[in-house]
Amino acid sequence: MKLKRILIFCVWGLVMAASVGAQSLERITPGQEWPDRKGEHINAHGGGLLFHEGKYYWYGENRPARGFTTEVGVEVYSSSDLMNWEDEGVALAVSEEAGHDIERGCIMERPKVVRNPKTGKFVMLFHLELKGKGYAAARVGFAESDSPFRFIRSLRPNAGKWPTDFSRRDIRKAKKLKEADYKEWWTPEWREAIREGLLLARDVPGGQMSRDMTVYVDDDGKAYHIYSAEENLTLNLAELTDDYLDYTGRYVRIAPGGQNEAPTIFKRDGVYWMITSGCTGWAPNEARMFKAASLWGPWEQLPSPFVGKDAKKSFHTQGTYIFKVEGTEDGFVFMADRWNPQSLKNSRHIWLPIDFEADGTPVIRWVDSWSPKEWKSIR
Ligand code: DGJ
Repeated sequence: MKLKRILIFCVWGLVMAASVGAQSLERITPGQEWPDRKGEHINAHGGGLLFHEGKYYWYGENRPARGFTTEVGVEVYSSSDLMNWEDEGVALAVSEEAGHDIERGCIMERPKVVRNPKTGKFVMLFHLELKGKGYAAARVGFAESDSPFRFIRSLRPNAGKWPTDFSRRDIRKAKKLKEADYKEWWTPEWREAIREGLLLARDVPGGQMSRDMTVYVDDDGKAYHIYSAEENLTLNLAELTDDYLDYTGRYVRIAPGGQNEAPTIFKRDGVYWMITSGCTGWAPNEARMFKAASLWGPWEQLPSPFVGKDAKKSFHTQGTYIFKVEGTEDGFVFMADRWNPQSLKNSRHIWLPIDFEADGTPVIRWVDSWSPKEWKSIR
């Protein structure tokens, strides 16, 4: 009799646990744990969003509870309401082959998946660091799906190519610059040399360094890879080929020497807005914002869009992507990570609606909770 009662109690406990896990979320609560349909905190960090055939797909870094290397790969979740997410499993798995570019123990960060309207394929770009080399490799990885994704290759972008806006004279000048002449960083001379292409020129033969990154697809279907190059000092915006699997060789530098990481971008009323972070490892810092009428620049730097308490630390977050809620005119959402280096897996997700001033300037305010369903009422 006693045993029977214990058994009933256990079964009831299991049923309750399952039903709690499957509870439906009605709001997004930035900074709180974000349980998936099974009740597990969503493990998709440095991620990005894709909308396809009525569903959102959230791709991000599957991070371990301890440590900094990639042991699983890129995880994907799906949702139809942006609040309740189903873990769809590993979209791109690490390789078990020794010496493989994405061998288990490498570092895969900030994956972004876009659909190529011409080929109908999904393409993933991500920041890749090779196993055992810390952050020295500074490469971009390419993968393509049907499903799951197939790793194609990794590289440093635009080997042998100079920025599109560099004249012959600029190239000649840059080629003369030598790192040995600028051993001390942050002096006015060093800043000038960086602007003129000290590290750019160093990296032209092998391709530009490529760390924090995003991918942007413009209205005409052309895709661009935006990444931190030159030891994280300078952003590059590089055009991808029609299949999104290579570079056309056209690229520009944005804010040379400005130390921008975590690029996120969107377009509203014909203006491109880019929100980035500074470079302070896993620690938060004050975001930066840029605007341009053309992706090719010029990019004008503006103050951080964050306002209110803790705005100087961007509410203790670092951006990862900006998306628009389907069916809204300008329901843009800033997706960010609140990194927890003690347990990257448990880093929190901060999603905040972007507001706009009368002149169109984006503003990000803290909200404790919001719902994409009530888009109008929270603005
Ligand atoms: C900041 C970057 O934005 C993250 O993606 C990660 O690379 C950390 N730095 C590593 O310190």
